Amino acid sequence: MIFTVAIDGPAAAGKGTISKAVAAHFGFAHLDTGLLYRAVGAKVLAGADPVAAAKALDPVDLENDSLRTPQVAEAASEVAVIPDVRAALVAFQKTFARRDGGAVLDGRDIGTVICPDAEVKLFVTASAECRAERRWQELRGRGMAVELENVIADVKARDERDSSRATAPLVAAADAVVIDTSDLSIDQAVAEAVAVISDKM
Ligand code: C5P
Repeated sequence: MIFTVAIDGPAAAGKGTISKAVAAHFGFAHLDTGLLYRAVGAKVLAGADPVAAAKALDPVDLENDSLRTPQVAEAASEVAVIPDVRAALVAFQKTFARRDGGAVLDGRDIGTVICPDAEVKLFVTASAECRAERRWQELRGRGMAVELENVIADVKARDERDSSRATAPLVAAADAVVIDTSDLSIDQAVAEAVAVISDKM
C-alpha cells in the first residue's frame, strides 16, 4: 500500500513526537527530514561545502545524536535556504514517501514541495513561547545547560528564516489540517492526528 502522511510545522511544535506515534500506530515508516538538513549543517560546521555535503549524504549520517544541538539546528536552517542543497535532498525524500507500506515524513515543505499529492497533510503548530519552553525542557533533559531566553530567541530566529526564505518556505499547504498543540497533551495531539489519518484511509 502506498500512503503518505506529510507533517509540517515550525520548530518544536510536536511534529517529531506526533510523527513517531502515528507511524507506530499505523505501522508506517517514518522519516524526520530535519535530520537531512541537520546532517548537512553538521558537515558544514566541520568545514564541508554545503552542496557537496548534500549530494554526498548517506542515510547512516542521520543516525547521530550530535545532530540534536542548537548549533547544528542553526547550521541546518542556514544551509536549508540554499536551493541546490534542497534539490539534492528531494529524490531521497520522494522515494521514501512512496515506499510500499506507508510513510510519514515530517519537516517544513513536505505537503507543499516534496509530497504535494500526499494522502494526508497535517500542519502542526503551537505558540512560540510554548515551543521554546518544550525545546528548553528537552535540551535540559539531555544535560545541556541553556537559558530559556536564548532558546526563545533561537526558535524565533529559525522560524523567521524558515518562513521567509524564497525556496520552499515553511507554510501550511492549502489542504493541510492544522493541529495547534499549545493546549494539548501529547496523547490528545496524537489522537487528533490519528483521527484525521483514519478518516482518509
Ligand atoms: O525539524 P528540525 O528542527 O530538525 O529542522 C532543522 C532545520 O532544517 C529547520 O530549521 C529548517 O531550516 C530545515 N528543514 C527544512 N525543510 C525540511 C526540514 C527541515 O528546511 N523539510
